[in-house]
Amino acid sequence: MSHKSELIARDIEGYLTAHEHKSLLRFITCGSVDDGKSTLIGRLLYESKMVFEDQFAALEADSKKVGTRGGEIDFALLVDGLAAEREQGITIDVAYRFFSTERRKFIVADTPGHEQYTRNMVTGASTADLAVILIDARKGVLTQTRRHSFLVSLLGIRRIVLAINKMDLVGYAEDVFRTILQEYHDFAAQVGLTDITAIPLSAVYGDNILEPGPNMPWYHGPTLMQHLETVEVGEEDSGKPFRLPVQWVNRPNHEFRGFAGLIASGTVRPGDRIRVAPSGRESRVARIVTAGGDLERAVAGQSVTLTLDSEIDVSRGDVIGAADAPPQVADQFEATIVWMHDAPLLQGRDYLVKIGTRTASATIAPLKYKINVNTLEHLAAETLELNDIGVCELKLDRPIPFAPYGEDHTLGGFILIDRLTNATLGAGLLHFALWRSQNVHWQALDVNQATRARQKGQRACVLWLTGLSGAGKSTIANLVEKRLLSMGRHTYLLDGDNVRHGLNKDLGFTAQDRVENIRRVAEVSKLMVDAGLIVLVSFISPFRAERRMARELLAPGEFLEVFVDTPLAEAERRDVKGLYQKARRGELKHFTGVDSPYEAPEHPEIHLETTSTSPEQAADRIVAFLTEAGMLSPT
Ligand code: ADX
Repeated sequence: MSHKSELIARDIEGYLTAHEHKSLLRFITCGSVDDGKSTLIGRLLYESKMVFEDQFAALEADSKKVGTRGGEIDFALLVDGLAAEREQGITIDVAYRFFSTERRKFIVADTPGHEQYTRNMVTGASTADLAVILIDARKGVLTQTRRHSFLVSLLGIRRIVLAINKMDLVGYAEDVFRTILQEYHDFAAQVGLTDITAIPLSAVYGDNILEPGPNMPWYHGPTLMQHLETVEVGEEDSGKPFRLPVQWVNRPNHEFRGFAGLIASGTVRPGDRIRVAPSGRESRVARIVTAGGDLERAVAGQSVTLTLDSEIDVSRGDVIGAADAPPQVADQFEATIVWMHDAPLLQGRDYLVKIGTRTASATIAPLKYKINVNTLEHLAAETLELNDIGVCELKLDRPIPFAPYGEDHTLGGFILIDRLTNATLGAGLLHFALWRSQNVHWQALDVNQATRARQKGQRACVLWLTGLSGAGKSTIANLVEKRLLSMGRHTYLLDGDNVRHGLNKDLGFTAQDRVENIRRVAEVSKLMVDAGLIVLVSFISPFRAERRMARELLAPGEFLEVFVDTPLAEAERRDVKGLYQKARRGELKHFTGVDSPYEAPEHPEIHLETTSTSPEQAADRIVAFLTEAGMLSPT
């Protein structure tokens, strides 16, 4: 049995007390796939005696079976818990591991080395005090090293351990170590990293992990473990104002209403005056309730439930802050974004953003530049691809409480989420608020949509026809408009080809341009609905996300999606404008259905299958739908 388990068996109370009073260091490790990260952490766990006998036996057996060290103990196997990792010999997910020594407790986020897993690195780094950046002594400073260092710096980690590993493979040569260190210093200084401790290591043989070992007498600094055990972890929260992002409203009965969450910064006491953002309402803290009883004081990092001494409206996502230093509130920001998805960022697309406990709708535009992580140059960019880092303007659909990331990681860090698939697309940091639209107020007008529509004897709405090029959208829309006109109704037809001659003549057919094409048409149709018209929109509008955005711009019931459903083969057979032929010959790029996707509607209000419905029948169905829905009679 190892010494830890003996102590646990003999004196569990003593063990727990000793544990409780040790300081905690949270760190992350970053490196490329083959830098030896898992081996390093495996060794730390093993040497700190956190491995029990049975695990050790399994490790020995595994090392013989699947190890990469010819039957010798393969420490990486301790860490590579996931089956997939063992099979592929790579680390693929963020893993938090806990270990402790006589002096300190540690939580290490083992972040993967794969380029495409930058995302996990960002997740692991936002709470870390220190980053161990691994370098393979044979390879030196790589693009990946620079990207990780840049991200670490962006995320606010100031302490770096540059672990130059695999020194055994370069003959333990001091000059190799010095050259790498010099190169790293030059880069790190440019991204504001100056607190760097470089340690030459061999994770496989254990040199400078716990003990110096005999191979590098020229190195006089601390071993990795000595450094991790003694490095100072500053109390960074002191003096920050109180902030509690509300996770949920606890209302078990009529007598009790509490606001629960994790204190992001500062201190709170009963009697403190607070202000709720974004509403701006003020009150005083009545009680600080926890599972273990009421508290006289609570600080950052504690989960509590506050009750207030007056009934004010507070909901999930609101932030309770000190009344004399309340959180700022804004809806436009400059921000850094790290893109983490295979599909590139589309400016103007409507994404979900999660900041603290709040969710809102966000669009990104303009993208100001992206950053070359090797040279730190700013490059003009239309989009961000997987792992790109860029600076942009972020516009939200409503004001939210926030803080610059540099001041507060909880209220300044965000993730972007795909509205349809819920996938995490990127992570970002807020720099500052842009106050641009602050002084533009909505004018209340006496003549409004309802009065305008009533005057026309109808209810305003949008008939949004979507489908492939050549599906028959324009033909059907044209017929519907003629019928409505003959019935004395007031309409307007926005047709893709026509609008692209004027308002949208600057746009082509890239995904980016199509998003903008639809955004503009959606806004125009909204204005026309406000004018009281029945608006017909005939655009391919191939992406679900933008059709949904258009729907959400309008009131419920005003957006009627009409799927003009013509199979690709049939549209291509008709090929009225000869464009499919051109696209097949490669003379037309990004042609919908050929080399650009069409995402069919899932729940259209009207579904027209043109192979079995004539344009006249289709128009009849649309007019019948409008009549039944009451659109052709005034409210
Ligand atoms: S959308 O995809 O952005 O909604 P929109 O409806 O405005 O497209 O324009 C489609 C029309 O542009 C088609 O009917 C066709 O005449 C023409 N066109 C030219 N190039 C393309 C292309 N690459 N893909 C689709 N349509 C194209």
